[in-house]
Amino acid sequence: MISVDPDRFLADLHRLQSFGAANPGLGSGKGVVRPAYSDPDIAARRWLAGRMEEAGLAPWFDPVGNLFGLADAERGMLLGSHSDTQPEGGWLDGALGVIAGLEIARAARAAGRQDLSVVSFQDEEGRFGVTTGSAIWSGQLPLNEADSLTSPDGESFAAARQRMADLAGDWIAPGRFAGFLEMHIEQGPWLDRAGEAVGVVEAIVGIRDMTITFKGQQNHAGTTPMAGRRDAFQALAAFNAAIAERFANVVTPQTVWTIGHVALHPGAHSVVPGRAAFSMQWRDSDTDRLARMERIIRDTADEIARARGMTVDLGRMLGLDPVAMAPGIVEACAAAAEEAVPGRWRRMPSGALHDATNAARHMPVGMLFVPSKGGISHDFAEDTDEADLVRGLQVMAAAVDRLGPG
Ligand code: GLV
Ligand code: MN
Ligand code: MN
Ligand code: MN
Repeated sequence: MISVDPDRFLADLHRLQSFGAANPGLGSGKGVVRPAYSDPDIAARRWLAGRMEEAGLAPWFDPVGNLFGLADAERGMLLGSHSDTQPEGGWLDGALGVIAGLEIARAARAAGRQDLSVVSFQDEEGRFGVTTGSAIWSGQLPLNEADSLTSPDGESFAAARQRMADLAGDWIAPGRFAGFLEMHIEQGPWLDRAGEAVGVVEAIVGIRDMTITFKGQQNHAGTTPMAGRRDAFQALAAFNAAIAERFANVVTPQTVWTIGHVALHPGAHSVVPGRAAFSMQWRDSDTDRLARMERIIRDTADEIARARGMTVDLGRMLGLDPVAMAPGIVEACAAAAEEAVPGRWRRMPSGALHDATNAARHMPVGMLFVPSKGGISHDFAEDTDEADLVRGLQVMAAAVDRLGPG
């Protein structure tokens, strides 16, 4: 029996929150600013490596800054998530899964089980791509291709990972692990609304993500007649409206798409923008639907550029296909949930991405969710009651117990 220590778990979770904690004086609550490869991210990973070592695990950084806490046993499950955050992130997204994994591996060792390893993947939040660290580790994204990716602030992945070069060791082969289990906050409203304590994930949706750039003619905002302007922002606005209309026949209520980052060039009140570069991301559980949406995006961008005498660049598309969780892990989690919170849990899909998607290329994976207050995440306001955090930890430990060593 793995007997976890809720106080030690919560203390570690709060300590991790202190790396990059946003200023509470500004009303940002428990929010965190700890993007991948920032100083707080690297400091947090160094601290985590120390905590792993104290727990009897061997800390190991790979060439992109994924941090493993390796168990002695040659084979066993991997537990964890990521410890980087969005530019304005919550304190639990990723951190919860890493600290829950650490606590369970630590408690298991005390009970004589030495097979559980822990991980904090790097750049799950996609400063450079889509779940970058675990995508590279799993072979989904070749390292030489990743190196040329750039963040919205213009840094290359090659330059960013160089900041952890003094820590970097060799790759850890995914084949060493018998499975991957990740606890996470739900990041959506369903558990909180229903007053349920646990979600057992059955599948993670797929994602496509690219940068689109309309190029028109930069010009004087006072003297250039409206008729005949080649305003890159107006092309973006027309594109946004047109895809919403064209998607209508293709999408389901679960399909989502987001333009989350826009850069107008040169970005001045008195200049008609000559260039509009923006992120275009879409997610769905069906790869055919993702492909149909891609065709609409490409055709619409081309038509709008042509009609306005502009050009459009469609950048490299990154993506992950939808994945199903392994039935054996799902059933272990479901049985543990039913025992801990009878009738107060559900099976559900994940609309958020997770490192488990990449791990699934090599091993059976599973995920457990705990409620997100108000369904808010990727925001400083993200939060979960401590009682729910601890219950999630206990359910995960019970699931690991049921799955057994190896
Ligand atoms: C990452 O958190 C994502 O789901 O986009
Ligand atoms: Mn996350
Ligand atoms: Mn996230
Ligand atoms: Mn995520």
